[in-house]
Amino acid sequence: MKIFKDPAKMQKWCLKRKREGATIALVPTMGYLHEGHLSLVETAKKRGAQEVIVSIFVNPVQFGPNEDYEKYPRDEKADLEKCRKAGVTAVFFPTPQNMYLEAHSVYVEEELLSRGLCGARRPGHFRGVCTVVAKLFNITVPDFAVFGRKDYQQAQIIRRMVRDLNFAVKIVLAPIVREKSGLARSSRNVYLSEKEKSMALSISAGLKALKSSKGAMTIAAFKRSLEKAGLKIDYVECVDAQTLEGRSKPSKGCCVLVSAFAGKTRLIDNITL
Ligand code: PAF
Repeated sequence: MKIFKDPAKMQKWCLKRKREGATIALVPTMGYLHEGHLSLVETAKKRGAQEVIVSIFVNPVQFGPNEDYEKYPRDEKADLEKCRKAGVTAVFFPTPQNMYLEAHSVYVEEELLSRGLCGARRPGHFRGVCTVVAKLFNITVPDFAVFGRKDYQQAQIIRRMVRDLNFAVKIVLAPIVREKSGLARSSRNVYLSEKEKSMALSISAGLKALKSSKGAMTIAAFKRSLEKAGLKIDYVECVDAQTLEGRSKPSKGCCVLVSAFAGKTRLIDNITL
């Protein structure tokens, strides 16, 4: 497994492999890898990529001033080991200094799908995500990139960026990976105490109930169940799965997205109906 820290060297190697005819898949991550990320690697391998590149970069530009950039969990050694075991062929591990040179002044901003949901609560977040993902696409020239459905809004925004800026990259979405309990896997789950973890289960349980109720269960009832479990709701919204426009009632073709705090930890999850 190759390890690159320097964007120029990573790019040179990817361009060479591309000229040699290799199919390149990119799995962009912020590290502290768990089974969710490894399932993205699996998806890339199954789709026949010869080079599966995992980028590991806690992107400072997508964190707000009061968010957890400094404290975001990191474990370089364990991540490399997991990548090796999973059959990743190259890891891109840049530093903030070599990704954002002094006086970096170009950013990518999506202006429609980023307005609501997480975008409304985390100003500048998707601008940071789009900028880094555009850079990663230019550096690794992938044929396709795999993203998780857990970050549903992010995935739709990246699709839009690819469409509107004509990136020659196919976006593949992989299903949410859950713990046995139903909790969606996230690097931020390490912040949760046992009590918070059990509170958090009301999110996946409620989403599941909402889906199986086929419209009988209301968003208001779902919200009450989250509050009863002790969570602080950031948002619960039912939106059109493509346009992310608000819908009054959960129905077929909608996505219900949740963001809620268990203690200080913000958790997100969603389900498509
Ligand atoms: O989903 C993530 O982990 C990040 O937002 C991403 C796509 C790797 C960009 O930093």
